[in-house]
Amino acid sequence: MNINFTYLPGDGIGPEVGAAALAVLSAVAAQFGHTLEAEDHLIGGAAIDAGEKPLPEVSFGSCHRTGAVLLGAVGGPKWDHLKGADRPELGALLPLRKRLNLYANIRPCKPYEALLDRAPLKRDRLEGTDFVVMRELTGGIYFGKKGRDADGAFDECRYSEPEVERIAVIAFDLAMTRRKKVTSVDKSNVLETSRLWRETVERVATRYPEVELEHLLVDAMTMHMLTRPTHFDVILTENMFGDILTDEASVLCGSMGVIPSASLSDARDDGKTVGMYEPIHGSAPDIAGQGKANPFAMILSAAWMLRLSFGLDAEATAIESAVEAALVAGDVTGDLGGSLSTSDVGAAIAQRLTA
Ligand code: NAD
Ligand code: IPM
Ligand code: MN
Repeated sequence: MNINFTYLPGDGIGPEVGAAALAVLSAVAAQFGHTLEAEDHLIGGAAIDAGEKPLPEVSFGSCHRTGAVLLGAVGGPKWDHLKGADRPELGALLPLRKRLNLYANIRPCKPYEALLDRAPLKRDRLEGTDFVVMRELTGGIYFGKKGRDADGAFDECRYSEPEVERIAVIAFDLAMTRRKKVTSVDKSNVLETSRLWRETVERVATRYPEVELEHLLVDAMTMHMLTRPTHFDVILTENMFGDILTDEASVLCGSMGVIPSASLSDARDDGKTVGMYEPIHGSAPDIAGQGKANPFAMILSAAWMLRLSFGLDAEATAIESAVEAALVAGDVTGDLGGSLSTSDVGAAIAQRLTA
């Protein structure tokens, strides 16, 4: 098969973890007899520095055409003085998610056995943790009207019922393939959008009698996630809460550098479901350019791209096994207690795939 996808390295550690992921993809393609056709395009600060908009139309056009996107990260201090849609985050990442209708963002949290003694939490609390956060990605406060007026500043938060319903359906469908439990997280004691969220989720739940549904308020959830992480199966939540809770989930997994993500659309008119795959971490300006970034999250995102956008399950599994083998062997970066560079980790994983 020809694996044709759009590669958006972006900023900071994005190109570093991206290069490691490309090395791994090349190895797996060679092993399984595929060709790799990566369309490399600018996004974010890198595009701004090249005199382009944060999301050049040629970059978007490639994403739209291939329908499979591997993204590093965007943003950083160099572009922090910019305002509104001139910023990498607001001018590139959010419009890309919105224009491709990538409303379902899936972020897994299943700590590796080899890392159980490395995470800040005790092994007996972590053992058996295996949940997935289903984050709504194209609505809520991120996409409401924002601005300044005489009184100050505002960010409007809106959700429509269909927007809540479609992400809830994905979460319940996923729960049916797992331990049949959905925890919906909101702030319905204060927010009207959360009250709509809760009502809508309750209504969707009636279609899934086998699935157990519980509701938790987001403030309490931050505590429950750390004190009893094994309790959760599918966590369903809105855009901003999902952003915050998944950085917290990375603590359970030992590092920001190990959690991948997939953002998916519904099938388009041409029958294609679009997928964008990116680590949950950002451009990590504090370690950028030093070869210190852990490429696992980006490599695992590439594996998800193979599985979900190209149906290459054996290839994805081969990458995931190679990542775990590297971890067990101690072929890891400093955040996981190792001494390898980003590219060395990529090479160690690629080599396991070609051996
Ligand atoms: P961050 O995720 O970039 O970094 C948070 C901390 O985690 C830092 O100490 C960093 O060194 C560490 N870290 C992150 N990824 C790591 C990796 N792969 N290996 C080892 N350590 C890693 O978050 P931040 O510092 O708050 O944000 C920096 C910039 O990234 C901001 O401009 C933000 O908007 C942007 N950002 C972009 C994305 C994205 O493009 N998807 C996601 C999050 C943040
Ligand atoms: C993420 C990031 C983004 C988000 C930012 C960079 C807009 O933090 O993907 O987790 O908040 O969605
Ligand atoms: Mn985030």
